[in-house]
Amino acid sequence: MSRIIKIFDTTLRDGEQSPGCSMNIDEKLMVARQLARMKVDIIEAGFPIASEGDFEAVKRIAQEVSGPVICALARTTDKDIDRAAEAIKPAERGRIHTFLATSDIHLKFKLRKDRNQVLDMAVAAVKRARKYTGDVEFSAEDATRSDIDYLCKVVEAAISAGATTINIPDTVGYAIPQEYAERIKNLFDRVPNIDKAVISVHCHNDLGLAVSNSLAAVLSGAGQIECTINGIGERAGNAAMEEIVMALRTREPYFEARTNIVTEEIMAASRLVRNVTGMTVQANKAIVGANAFAHESGIHQDGFLKEKSTYEIMTPESVGLAQSSLVLGKHSGRHALRERYRQLGYAFFEDYAMIHPGEKEPRERDLTKHIVTEEQFERIFERFKKLADQKKDIFDDDLEALIAEEFRVSDVYELKKLYVVGGTDAKPQADVELKINGRSRKKTGTGDGPVDATLKTIAKITRTESLMLAYEVKAITGGTDAQGEVVVRLREDNFTVMGQGSDTDIIVASAKAYINALNKLVYLKKRGEKTVEKMCE
Ligand code: KIV
Ligand code: ZN
Repeated sequence: MSRIIKIFDTTLRDGEQSPGCSMNIDEKLMVARQLARMKVDIIEAGFPIASEGDFEAVKRIAQEVSGPVICALARTTDKDIDRAAEAIKPAERGRIHTFLATSDIHLKFKLRKDRNQVLDMAVAAVKRARKYTGDVEFSAEDATRSDIDYLCKVVEAAISAGATTINIPDTVGYAIPQEYAERIKNLFDRVPNIDKAVISVHCHNDLGLAVSNSLAAVLSGAGQIECTINGIGERAGNAAMEEIVMALRTREPYFEARTNIVTEEIMAASRLVRNVTGMTVQANKAIVGANAFAHESGIHQDGFLKEKSTYEIMTPESVGLAQSSLVLGKHSGRHALRERYRQLGYAFFEDYAMIHPGEKEPRERDLTKHIVTEEQFERIFERFKKLADQKKDIFDDDLEALIAEEFRVSDVYELKKLYVVGGTDAKPQADVELKINGRSRKKTGTGDGPVDATLKTIAKITRTESLMLAYEVKAITGGTDAQGEVVVRLREDNFTVMGQGSDTDIIVASAKAYINALNKLVYLKKRGEKTVEKMCE
């Protein structure tokens, strides 16, 4: 009989914390709802003490998302724990996750405390958190570089103080699978009250071993894995949820373990996180990369066509990839478009009204799908028609790109018009019209190429001082009529953001991506983000 491994998703906390992956509250709510549809066990919704925006996001998710446990992160100080407790109060089931480093290197240089002091702080924090909820997780930060005897002592004390989950993070991605598995086994062998808590693992990917380490820990008895969609997270990222879940599903007899995740929702979650963060997914990324299910070599194709299992260990359908992603074209109408979006996991108010007749407003807790309003649908349909005129076949990825624009909320800057001249003998020039907080602003500018002229003109209008760290362009689907997707990475005043835009014209896509990033900068500055580094000063 297989054990159930709990999936603790930290896309909205550890994932969002990484440079360029910030999301606004509405985007976080959309991701949280998708996580609920996937049936993750725990959603780590944020770090409420970090900023007002973080607090609000955790609170809204606690209010509006049902199903998973909603968790908030806190250091061991009273004010952190009280703030986390306040944020998760509205949740059906809430968890406080408190953390403190246990490695000598962190004790000496970061905390400047001795082992006894740290032990006392951990115990006090768990006890305080238990006053608010029966579900308390304690993380021994940098556990993989902590002295094992001391780690055992802290874990035992945290459990005695009331922690119901103990997390053993590989904070710096230093562990090797066998060694990590041994460390977990050691804890099971040596901590007398270990059976009173679930042992969790949380691995970073600095050596590319986050997923391997997490799975090795399962073989030693770990009961919870902390991970993120697409593996986003600090530095090289966290363990990728889709890889962990599909490894457990594909090799269940080996692990004698499985998860509750609805794997058919994986692609939708991956696309959503990619769209809202702008963090692209490499083509050869396992499970969710564009090539993950593509068989190119002749020998492979031959075998695959004779019998799929020769070269396929899991089906594309099992992760939510439609067998044929060719869907719509010029002659498709509203009905076909609506149906396809339904299949992709979106819903319309009429769907909601059918489940809850007589109710005018949806009850937020019931909204596990992204609801598209009639007004939004009309705009999407208009864009779809325009695209179908430019492009023969419209694929799911095109549809996702069209709808992503609708969910790009609270924009200050909006692109109204763009006219560009360029070519072998012309000096590239761009005429740009933006709407800024509802008012139209126009300017003309030149540059080294049409994209450069466009972005420089937008920078002039918006008076941004941001530095362009990266600019990336790729085709969303095949063919010369494909939509281009542009991702930019900007930095201003210590904020790093990603922006994403798509269009059949890559200059327009570039303008959209740049404007999306500028809107994110505005949002972050308004949110008054305190970075964790600033909090530690
Ligand atoms: O990597 C880490 O140690 C963390 C903790 C807060 C769990 O993210
Ligand atoms: Zn982490």
